[in-house]
Amino acid sequence: MTAAASHNKTPRRILVTSALPYANGAIHLGHLVEYIQTDIWVRFQKMQSNEVYYVCADDTHGTPVMLRAQSEGISPEALIERVSQEHQRDFASFLVNFDNYYSTNAPENKAYCEQIYKELRNQGLIQTKSVEQFYDPVKEMFLPDRFIKGECPKCNAKDQYGDSCEVCGATYNPTELKNAYSTVSGAAPVRKSSDHYFFKLSDPRCENFLRQWTQSEGRLQVEASRKMQEWLGEEGSGKLADWDISRDAPYFGFEIPDAPGKYFYVWLDAPVGYFASFKQLCDRIGLNADDFLRKDSTAEMIHFIGKDILYFHALFWPAMLEFSNFRTPTKVNAHGFLTVDGAKMSKSRGTFITAESYIKQGMNPEWLRYYFAAKLNASTEDLDLSFTDFSARVNSDLVGKFINIASRSAGFLVKQFEGRVLDSAMQHPVLLELRKQAEVIAGHYNDREYGKAIREIMACADHINIYVDQEKPWELAKKPEAAQQLHIACSVCLEAFRVLSLYLKPVLPQLVANAENLLGVASLNWADVNTPLSSAQALQPFKHLMQRVDQKQIDALIEANKQSLAPAASSAQSATTATATATATALPSKGAKTSASAAQGDAVSPYITIDDFAKIDLRIGLVQECKAVEGSTKLLQLTVDLGEAKPRNIFSGIAAHYKPEELVGQKVVVVANLAPRKMKFGISEGMVLCAAADDDSALAALSAHSKALAGMKIS
Ligand code: 2FM
Ligand code: ZN
Repeated sequence: MTAAASHNKTPRRILVTSALPYANGAIHLGHLVEYIQTDIWVRFQKMQSNEVYYVCADDTHGTPVMLRAQSEGISPEALIERVSQEHQRDFASFLVNFDNYYSTNAPENKAYCEQIYKELRNQGLIQTKSVEQFYDPVKEMFLPDRFIKGECPKCNAKDQYGDSCEVCGATYNPTELKNAYSTVSGAAPVRKSSDHYFFKLSDPRCENFLRQWTQSEGRLQVEASRKMQEWLGEEGSGKLADWDISRDAPYFGFEIPDAPGKYFYVWLDAPVGYFASFKQLCDRIGLNADDFLRKDSTAEMIHFIGKDILYFHALFWPAMLEFSNFRTPTKVNAHGFLTVDGAKMSKSRGTFITAESYIKQGMNPEWLRYYFAAKLNASTEDLDLSFTDFSARVNSDLVGKFINIASRSAGFLVKQFEGRVLDSAMQHPVLLELRKQAEVIAGHYNDREYGKAIREIMACADHINIYVDQEKPWELAKKPEAAQQLHIACSVCLEAFRVLSLYLKPVLPQLVANAENLLGVASLNWADVNTPLSSAQALQPFKHLMQRVDQKQIDALIEANKQSLAPAASSAQSATTATATATATALPSKGAKTSASAAQGDAVSPYITIDDFAKIDLRIGLVQECKAVEGSTKLLQLTVDLGEAKPRNIFSGIAAHYKPEELVGQKVVVVANLAPRKMKFGISEGMVLCAAADDDSALAALSAHSKALAGMKIS
């Protein structure tokens, strides 16, 4: 795809979406990975003169929104309206440029949902079945699992959710919880049956379609289509269950046609919201939505999502569309989760950072856009935000390499040459080489390999900086006889800056808009790579284009999120989101070793592979409490913060070597995925690592450097 070729090609027509954020939570940096990733892709495609529409909306329906509105004493409509404004403000501040932002609680969405449902029903793909569920007799409502808590059936830990125990890691059904209670009213839930509507995914038509669709070339990433194959199971395995698409009143959503008191489950109407948002856009700008949405459409429909919602986008959604005479997605691009400094985002550590707080600290949104771009690729791998790396990259790449090229040359050009470049310098070999990279960089953007694109662009910037250092404009400027050479050097630099700006424009739209102003050029498109600056147009006096990141801002950001997020953490109703790894509590997985806490230090054990080592999840733990264990002379009982929702209870055989108070406040090393062990005195949920002399005469708990934070992974 050369710039010239792309210019002559028939433009692609593409409808692009990002996952719809839930209307009951704030946008945070985890969300922004996806919106920034999509926005870069859309901006790049628009620079290629393709016809692209980027739509999104708030995902408004369901029990959590309904209950939250009640607890705030407002209507769900008022709540979703307020949250929509907040979301749109946050997206705009990070320069995420939707062509339309709408709501799933909209007439267009209702109409499409009904159309799809009725067609599925005509096809014989809707069935009702009786379902028994927990019911809150006080609130008179069925309870989604996440609103039921009780005691773990395995370890008796209190206040555990209906699906798994955060203390011992057991998984179970909500029916197995002991002393279950509704988190809404506190009442003991009762079992109650009602009729539910199901989409018959197990119908051979659906199963056959999904087998073929999920495996067809280019629709899903390789790892995603493998996952789908796993979920679909062997042919005839019957692994694909029918999908329950209804919920009983009271529910905030759309009532199902001909089924009073039954509502579409939020996940049925959420993806349809993509269509609704697009339809609203089409009606506004005079486009025919059917050209994109009908079955035989040749336009592309591309979804960007987090890997946690692949199931909905690669199974349910295509099947819904296929059997209701709509087109199916051209491609589903899933990305990984965001970690911060190698750990899950954590409210207690202040790394669960909201978009709003980032902006409020005066941090530049384009720093984050650049950093994410530099780390993004087309896979579903997780992406780590390391603040040290963040500052280093922004300061050295953007300010030190890219902007440096303009700041070293623009002033001289304005002062000494009326701000005009030398036209004959525009074909300098350094520039020809630079422009040659357009095609490969475009290929990387198109393939969502932004990290590769950024590496190429920075390699180009390095070459130009070598040229700057060779020419030394600041020295040439002191010698009147070198005026011509200075004019050439500055002209080459400014044109190089223009080309690099063009390459970075999908990532840094605001910075590049400012650069375009300074250079006096119209909005750059990809094909403009070969249209150099001209002496006909004078440069504006150079202004500072970007500040460096200051560590103090990052410290303040983390501090602000520690405080501001404390109350939000208690909301049992906040839903998990497409990218909210931080809200998912990792369960300790089974496996690894079972041995006493004091290791023997004799001969070195046989080699293990790196994979063997990787099975052991070692974490920094902060000892919050430590006490003697009544009835044991060997054990101490420690309460250790591993950066999780709850600290761990750990028994360690170190009483002979430590007084309990000596360990409080210490950072220790914990095997976090050691299977919980039932001991006489309770359950031990991990192991504190210690070094010990062969004869046990000396023992020391391993401790960590002061920079280490609770929950950090050790590798
Ligand atoms: O996981 C989520 O955050 C959902 N609100 C995403 C919905 S995407 C689409 F299907 F609407
Ligand atoms: Zn348990």
